[in-house]
Amino acid sequence: MEFQDKAVAITGAAHGIGRAIALAFAAEGADLAIFDIDAEALEETAGLARAMGRKVHTGVGDFRKLEVITASFAAAREALGTPDVLINNLGQTAREQTTAFSEAPHDVLDFVLDISLRAAVHCTREVVGGMKARGSGRIVSISSDSALNGDLGCVDYAAAKSGVLGFTRGLAREIAPFGMTANAVCPGPTNTRAMQRIPRDSFERARDAVPMKAICDPEDIAHAVLFLASDKARYITGQTLPVNGGRVFN
Ligand SMILES: NC(=O)c1ccc[n+]([C@@H]2O[C@H](COP(=O)([O-])OP(=O)(O)OC[C@H]3O[C@@H](n4cnc5c(N)ncnc54)[C@H](O)[C@@H]3O)[C@@H](O)[C@H]2O)c1
Repeated sequence: MEFQDKAVAITGAAHGIGRAIALAFAAEGADLAIFDIDAEALEETAGLARAMGRKVHTGVGDFRKLEVITASFAAAREALGTPDVLINNLGQTAREQTTAFSEAPHDVLDFVLDISLRAAVHCTREVVGGMKARGSGRIVSISSDSALNGDLGCVDYAAAKSGVLGFTRGLAREIAPFGMTANAVCPGPTNTRAMQRIPRDSFERARDAVPMKAICDPEDIAHAVLFLASDKARYITGQTLPVNGGRVFN
């Protein structure tokens, strides 16, 4: 029970990696403030954590909107206090709207930058003052190995996720004197809805490009996140941890 009585805030916790992270923290005793746009699936995550005996606050809304972020974190602070840990998990590529960068509509570029970088910056801004006043806090942001590899068809996403790494490094320096750390995890292709939706041959190509010849499970990412949020990682800050079966090296 490494996180007993700690409060952990997680964005994008209704599905995939976010849900795996939420349940892994709940299994270690944490109370949760979880956020997502998908109310029904978020309630499922909450139900699973409550069944483990945890207190769970949910916040539903579109986290591309600043007013939704500020109101959601204010309500979460009211319910659970300033979180001990923030996980910036929200993010995605343009998915079905993916094009060559030279043809990308400006609104699609804005969508990817907003959801994969801007939301993390504003969510962190909502917790960092309270953590600083308390003299402790852990921030872990989910980037992507696309930030390291620059995968084709993901120029906007690689820009946003590299932004997450720069943000993490700058933040780490500022908050280090206050007993706080900030780190980033870069997943490789991971078995969530986005991967499950792609054609079988693309899935197999992605799997075969990994030296371990396996797609990552969301729980593999959760294990890395819990480590970085734990006391065992108290001297690690500003770092990037790739979890990708050896696909890309940092
Ligand atoms: N799955 C992968 O292969 C992979 C690889 C590298 C990095 N990542 C990163 O990991 C993180 C999680 O990815 P995932 O694959 O679990 O994605 P997912 O789509 O399964 O989950 C993302 C969650 O965000 C929620 N969401 C979407 N738009 C939202 C909005 N506007 N406001 C609030 N919530 C919103 C979704 O409902 C969903 O619950 C993302 O940052 C992603 O970029 C994923």
